[in-house]
Amino acid sequence: MTTILAIETSCDETSAAVVINGRKVVSCVVASQIQLHRQYGGVFPEMASREHMLAIAPVVREAMAKAGVQWSDLSAIATVNGPGLAGSLLVGVNFAKALAAAHNIPLLGINHMEGHIYANWLQYEGGPETDPAFPLVSLVVSGGHTDLILMEDHLQYRRLGGTIDDAAGEAFDKVARLMGLGYPGGPAIERWSAGGDGTAFDLPRALSVGAYDFSFSGLKTAVLRELQELQRQQGTEVPERGVKLADAGVQEPDPNLPIADLAASFQEALVDALVTKTLRALSDHSAVQLLVAGGVAANSRLRQELLARAQVPVRFPPIRYCTDNAAMMGAAAHYRYLAGHRATLALDVLPGLTLA
Ligand SMILES: Nc1ncnc2c1ncn2[C@@H]1O[C@H](COP(=O)(O)OP(=O)(O)OP(=O)(O)O)[C@@H](O)[C@H]1O
Ligand SMILES: [Mg+2]
Repeated sequence: MTTILAIETSCDETSAAVVINGRKVVSCVVASQIQLHRQYGGVFPEMASREHMLAIAPVVREAMAKAGVQWSDLSAIATVNGPGLAGSLLVGVNFAKALAAAHNIPLLGINHMEGHIYANWLQYEGGPETDPAFPLVSLVVSGGHTDLILMEDHLQYRRLGGTIDDAAGEAFDKVARLMGLGYPGGPAIERWSAGGDGTAFDLPRALSVGAYDFSFSGLKTAVLRELQELQRQQGTEVPERGVKLADAGVQEPDPNLPIADLAASFQEALVDALVTKTLRALSDHSAVQLLVAGGVAANSRLRQELLARAQVPVRFPPIRYCTDNAAMMGAAAHYRYLAGHRATLALDVLPGLTLA
């Protein structure tokens, strides 16, 4: 049995969790900086690291208190050490190192992206009773990544393909900004799409890039062109790039434009591309399971389409474990611990760390 204190500080969430056997979340505390970064339309790295410094000690203390465990109960302390923002990662890594040294507890460095995948091992009310089965394909769709990963076993990652330009979450965020829907864009676009017609605009899917690759920059440009064309038809001024409202930091959509239809059409195109390539990866590699991971896994249209079209069981973490949290790091850490991985106090941050 393992009891692991996990720490996550790769971007703009300061989180700590205590996880038993990589499955049972006994506590998970998340301090989100989203309100702070909203005014900048994205994460402001320097402010993020300063906020982590303020939040890390109380967040860890709260996670330990809520779990009701002592330092001597812990099998290991696990921290994210990449990929992510260097200044943010440094806070988690140094705090974990200090705790591990002070309490003489083994230290583990966890890849943030493997954490997103292992969120699918966490138990929750109403969730599946059994662990995911191998070989599996994981569609990792987050703010910074969009990858199709083949796993034949625990901790074995083979990258089949991924985005050649923007990540899916990044595309959601950029398109939302163009339309003046604010930050973060994914939830805003999902909300607006609910009242729109996804077939109203015929937007590109970019299916001809590599077999398991994605490209979203053309889709983003197509949305911009549609917006400019709509404004031209209305006789409103056409800005050089983007929509003036968004560029001016005004987070309000133009009430005269069919924003809901455009949002829904964008969501439809992006989801269609993700699903098409994911289904291909599943069947080409005889995968018995699909795991969806990362912030965009919260998208209900993506969930719906994958569930309807995949021939194998599909799993998504509950929404609270889709976006950044430490519980998912605790799940991955359990398997690293069992495999004998141990980090030393030389553990360093690796902002560009990859999975495969
Ligand atoms: N319901 C939703 N629909 C679509 N996208 C969503 C939804 N909810 C969140 N997102 C997107 O998920 C992203 C955030 O996910 P996550 O926190 O996993 O990314 P990140 O940690 O910033 O990036 P990475 O994990 O690659 O380092 C944002 O781009 C956000 O717009
Ligand atoms: Mg993330």
